[in-house]
Amino acid sequence: MKLLVTGGAGFIGSHTSLLLLEEGYDLVIYDSFHNSSKKVFKRFEKILGCDETYLTKRIKVIEGDIRDRNLLEEVFNYYSSSGDSITAVLHFAGLKSVSESVIKPIDYWDVNLLGTKNLIEVMAKYECYKLVFSSSATVYGSTSSSKITEDHNINPQNPYGHTKAAVEDFLTDLYNSNDKWSFAILRYFNPVGAHSSGQIGEDPFGVPNNLFPFISQVAIGRLEKLLVFGNDWPTTDGTGIRDYIHVIDLAQGHISALEKLLENNNQIVKLNLGSGKGHSVLDVIKTFSKVTGVDIPYEISNRRSGDTGQNVADPSLSKKTLGWETKRTLFEMCRDSWNWQTKNPNGYN
Ligand code: NAD
Ligand code: UD1
Repeated sequence: MKLLVTGGAGFIGSHTSLLLLEEGYDLVIYDSFHNSSKKVFKRFEKILGCDETYLTKRIKVIEGDIRDRNLLEEVFNYYSSSGDSITAVLHFAGLKSVSESVIKPIDYWDVNLLGTKNLIEVMAKYECYKLVFSSSATVYGSTSSSKITEDHNINPQNPYGHTKAAVEDFLTDLYNSNDKWSFAILRYFNPVGAHSSGQIGEDPFGVPNNLFPFISQVAIGRLEKLLVFGNDWPTTDGTGIRDYIHVIDLAQGHISALEKLLENNNQIVKLNLGSGKGHSVLDVIKTFSKVTGVDIPYEISNRRSGDTGQNVADPSLSKKTLGWETKRTLFEMCRDSWNWQTKNPNGYN
């Protein structure tokens, strides 16, 4: 079965693509490489223990922008006219930095919303009606709930979140308009970690904004110290609590969601992908130090604008709907992030 994976070279897309290959799916990966490296595919060969000839039979890599409608059409047309039509799409491609979205809202609306609209139009033309979409827990905005369920208010607080919520509405409208569409809208909590081989992982350009890549770079000595954004939150130790999810658990969640879409037509599911467990910044520092044997220098600083104290999923609907739940612990998330960081101190370069 042939699947299109947009953004399949990125952090979450690459881990999911690898698992999809292992499950026997053949892939067309469509990525602009705006925030990723082509080197990821050489790493697939190492992990799968195969050569380039085998891999190119299983994956076709296309460098392209999701806003380039002609190229997307060419891709769908090529497979449909060769009798090997694309059955479903996993749509990871997009821009994902909250802080950048505040400065460049036009880019975020253009790529995240108009890019998705382009994709949907081409899918409809080629009668491909199943899509797994990367949404984010950021659509919930700030919350006082100890665990967030899917029926929580949608109230995003930044342009990035607005674009994700808008795509969710767009897909819901499509679903209501025509009984051919099927969507799995997956709201990720905090994806971290890396493949246990240390061959693929998160490779942010520039100084990272997120906690895990930042701590990894402090531990390896690329950055001097971690600033802890506030110790006056109403949480157990005063630092921010998040629901970290190992990227392999997350990738497995996509496979379960895809399988659900393939089983029946005309469904829409909106699901939290998280562990249901919260960890504070100090928990993460402590666990990371334990795993690495390296002291993580840190300093308490002011709260970061736009932050919330606690953000933890209630993942029970995902378990009920998909039979999926996370398996990996915070220790494994820290261990695999560190393994990737030490094997690739400069990412893919
Ligand atoms: P990433 O930046 O590593 O991957 C995104 C991929 O999309 C990259 O390979 C990038 O080159 C590609 N891309 C960007 N713009 C494109 C365009 N116009 N056309 C084609 N390809 C393009 O990000 P990620 O962490 O793997 O995130 C994947 C998806 O999950 C994104 O949609 C993101 O918003 C969403 N998400 C991520 C997180 C997170 O913490 N990583 C959390 C919630 C949701
Ligand atoms: C951030 C995004 C969110 C996105 C998520 C993806 C913001 C405001 N939110 O969320 O939209 O979906 O990434 O993973 O950017 N922290 C520090 N020091 C640091 C970095 C982080 O103390 O240098 C703290 C934060 O205050 C927070 C926790 O670590 O309590 C996790 O932060 P981060 O990894 O950036 O994730 P989120 O804030 O959950």
